[in-house]
Amino acid sequence: MSSTDNTTPCDAYDHLLAVKDFEVAAKKFLPHCVFEYLRGGTEDEVTLCANRSAFDLVGFRPRGLCDVSERTQVVELWGKQYASPIGIAPTGVAGIVRHDCDAMLAQETAQANVPFIISGASNVPLERLARLNPDSWYQGYFPGDREQISKITQRLTAASINTIVLTIDTCVGANRENNMRNHFTIPFKLSPRVLFDGVTHPTWLIQVFARTLIKSGVPRFVNMYGENGPMITESTPGGFRAGRDRLSWEDLKWLRSQWKGRLVVKGVMHPADAKLAAEIGVDAMIVSNHGGRQLDAAISSFQALPEVIAQVPASIPVFLDGGIRRGSDVLKALALGAKLVFMGRPTLYGAAVGERPGIRRVLNILMSEIDRNLALLGCRQLSDVSPDLLQYISAPRINIDINNKGDNR
Ligand SMILES: Cc1cc2nc3c(=O)[nH]c(=O)nc-3n(C[C@H](O)[C@H](O)[C@H](O)COP(=O)(O)O)c2cc1C
Repeated sequence: MSSTDNTTPCDAYDHLLAVKDFEVAAKKFLPHCVFEYLRGGTEDEVTLCANRSAFDLVGFRPRGLCDVSERTQVVELWGKQYASPIGIAPTGVAGIVRHDCDAMLAQETAQANVPFIISGASNVPLERLARLNPDSWYQGYFPGDREQISKITQRLTAASINTIVLTIDTCVGANRENNMRNHFTIPFKLSPRVLFDGVTHPTWLIQVFARTLIKSGVPRFVNMYGENGPMITESTPGGFRAGRDRLSWEDLKWLRSQWKGRLVVKGVMHPADAKLAAEIGVDAMIVSNHGGRQLDAAISSFQALPEVIAQVPASIPVFLDGGIRRGSDVLKALALGAKLVFMGRPTLYGAAVGERPGIRRVLNILMSEIDRNLALLGCRQLSDVSPDLLQYISAPRINIDINNKGDNR
């Protein structure tokens, strides 16, 4: 049986009890523009908010008097047992949160035995990340240029990375007005405003900014291409997103025929895309709106999940990300049929606050919430978490039949 105690003495940061506490603490540590880069969404942040509020529209109908003394949140995927149905989503430019942040995420996921996706926009070479966590998956921002894609896949094969996650919601750059207001741009420019922001956060300035410059120089997009990429301060011809708007389903078909490893598509929101991806033979898909960071006014990923699942054969696992902050969110997504969920911001907040122990604490909080809520729902294992345990809060069940006294009375 796993423990519901999330305050074990060996845990650092045990005074931080919930993911929200890490967000508040991260806000203090990080310069405003960096914190907002993490927290923010696009335009009016409608989708960012919807990702959270969607979970509140559905509540649980827990069962009682079930023997839940022996319970587990272990999940099996592709013949491997993971300790929990939570993984770390790809998060680019994490090097501005902590020096070597990608490496910390890789190490902590390896230790916790949960999935980890290397971002195509990450700053630590994927070869090193794959050594730190040999089960790392790689997320690609592929251009519609098969020669470029082949170079990356060759590099992945050489690094023994077996799973590609192709992000399909980023054909053009998003309208992130919050970043523009804070003068935070990629390529990164040291404007007076950003400089002021940095010097008013001296701990970050020393521990992250200065340390990074001294130890490894200006961070680079080391994993976006088949070879080392540009510095985050450098402009590239056509911009680093060049050619992404040409990527099509034909390219996915071609990639499927070329890539012998596992292929996952990330950013599926429409049931028709789910059907197409399944027909092409992907190994899994992630229902995601990029954490509200691409198309604003997209529906929440939680709302999109049931219709996506309806289009996909049971042999193809469906994952979800977007707005997961509590164990109860995880269990709601699983009740609707998700196999696993991923988180982007929470573990970056963990890294900001406490480097590896901070990330560990965030993962532990989620796992202990999952464990406790499994028990309170009357479930011993994840497969017991069925849709029957959910109810739309705004739409009470109206099929009340006074002759039906339920199966337990
Ligand atoms: C700072 C940051 C950077 C991100 N970078 C990437 C990326 O490089 N590739 C990608 O596919 N998604 C990226 N995402 C989106 C996440 O993978 C994920 O879809 C999203 O964060 C999930 O929402 P959550 O943050 O509410 O958990 C990023 C998200 C954040 C917050």
